[in-house]
Amino acid sequence: MTGRKRRGSLRSKSGPTRTSTRNRCVALMVVMVMAGIALLPKLAAAADPYSSISPESQDNRDIILLYKIIFWIALVVFIGVQGAIVFTVMKYRQRREDEPRPEQIHGNQRLEVLWTIIPALVLVAIFIPTVRTMFQINDRNDDSTYTIEVYGKQWWWEVHYKQPENVANVITANEFYIPVNTRVRIELNSTNVIHSFYVPQLAGKMDVIPGHTNVMSVKADEPGMYYGECAEYCGDSHAYMRFKIMAVPQDQFDLWVQGWNQGANSSAAALAPNGDVESVPASMALCLGCHRIGGVPNNPAGQPLQNPPTGLEGGDSPQNMILGPNLSMLACRTSLAAGILPNTPESLHKWLYNPGGVKQGNFMATMIKKGTLNDDQINQIISYLETLKPEGGCPVITGVNADKVQRLADTDGSTTAASDPGTAADPDDTGYINETRYKS
Ligand code: CUA
Repeated sequence: MTGRKRRGSLRSKSGPTRTSTRNRCVALMVVMVMAGIALLPKLAAAADPYSSISPESQDNRDIILLYKIIFWIALVVFIGVQGAIVFTVMKYRQRREDEPRPEQIHGNQRLEVLWTIIPALVLVAIFIPTVRTMFQINDRNDDSTYTIEVYGKQWWWEVHYKQPENVANVITANEFYIPVNTRVRIELNSTNVIHSFYVPQLAGKMDVIPGHTNVMSVKADEPGMYYGECAEYCGDSHAYMRFKIMAVPQDQFDLWVQGWNQGANSSAAALAPNGDVESVPASMALCLGCHRIGGVPNNPAGQPLQNPPTGLEGGDSPQNMILGPNLSMLACRTSLAAGILPNTPESLHKWLYNPGGVKQGNFMATMIKKGTLNDDQINQIISYLETLKPEGGCPVITGVNADKVQRLADTDGSTTAASDPGTAADPDDTGYINETRYKS
């Protein structure tokens, strides 16, 4: 009651001030709305492959719907609260030096009940669609045709195909193929620290936790190359722990699996000692301490490969004891070192010359230091790696982000740039890392 009386007394004294207050409020509102209008198209037009607001799956469209519901509720709350603050500050501000202080009041039951109930209703309005969407998406895991296991490593991803039977022995790293329009169950594991598996255009984030298997699934509507990244800080090169999901038509997927099972092809054999497809060039002896290549069971000395001792990474099942990424069909990958470098002879040269200069803290850098491999050895390895693709060529990637696909297999087997010191990029130069953010 006292408030109302006071307002009345102000109004009677200050007619012109009231008008200017209203004008200022209107001007402020206009500025806010214009800023909103200016920002919205920018948000809507973002076709960033790392952005979750350019969805390419039903799961993500459901998440986007939820995002929009929450966005508009939040906008209404924001404008309501800010509007009330601005209105109050303008209307009840001190206008003259000699104006008396307003009466100090304490508590208002009606208001307090109101501003407890309104936020509770807002939370309920957010909670119900959120939980419904979570269950809806989770239920779809059971519709999966394929099952794969993904292991978060420091700092790359190992992928084991588990089901059905015909893909069960396929192991790859950082880039993996799925058939388009087919649901793939993903079981997330870690034996080191917590990572987070995030493919913004296909699915929500899911943590990758040591000692606990988290399950999610993806289904791409459109063929394409989908970018993923680790979304949980996990050490030195967390920012360089990217991956890609290649969604391809079933026949191209089958071609990829067939290529994996076939392992090293005839052109690989031509570079191996005595033309033996099960062997590799002598310069790769050190590589096979940690890496595996499908179809290459023997090291250059003809001894079967021993699995590295249990421990550092991957748990204790024999498949998990591999320390480094599986190199099968490496020429079909678009990037190296978990998405830092484009897969070109030049980048391979940089990487093999000094992996520690490219990716800080990586395990390979403890074995391969600057000068461990000489130029001839590096070029021999690159030539061999370029042959690691299916006999009939890499699977064809079309659709979403297909314009960004660049593979070693597409570089015509040319290693001239890398072998010529005059044109080879400076291996110590790390300036390229940011440039390749969207290219690789
Ligand atoms: Cu793995 Cu961050």
